[in-house]
Amino acid sequence: MAHLTYTDLTRTQQLLLDAAEKAMASSYAPYSKFNVGAGILTENDAVVTGANVENAAYGSTICGERSALVGAYAQGHRSVKAIAIIGRSEMGPAEKPVAPCGSCRQMLFEAAQGSKKNMEVIFSNTAKSDIIITTINDLLPYGFGPENL
Ligand code: THU
Repeated sequence: MAHLTYTDLTRTQQLLLDAAEKAMASSYAPYSKFNVGAGILTENDAVVTGANVENAAYGSTICGERSALVGAYAQGHRSVKAIAIIGRSEMGPAEKPVAPCGSCRQMLFEAAQGSKKNMEVIFSNTAKSDIIITTINDLLPYGFGPENL
């Protein structure tokens, strides 16, 4: 997997990452103090963003990626082409790209099925100087999806 920097990205990828970065400002993370923003590009080129939302009952926390995903579903979108993810700690910048957790990969896998294309997953460190571009199939090989039911 190649490690890229912001200028290596296409304009569309840059704009999606910028949208994720903007959404990161709305993160509610008083417990971990780790802010995550995500930007989703839907099949019809709409951009929907989300941020992580924590809770005093820690397990009720929702990640930035799923926050963006459920927002997209709630707006009627059923198919996602790409997602960009960025994060930072309030104690300092994330040096390494912020990768989606296992639960988010599972939900992204399902959202990718609508398009029959391999969803692009872009994840970045805070400075946008270390960016990985991969696909959901690479992040979740042999994923369990609607076709398994
Ligand atoms: N978090 C995300 O939002 N996305 C990830 O991919 C990793 C973790 C959030 C959950 C929690 O609010 C905080 O980051 C620390 O785990």
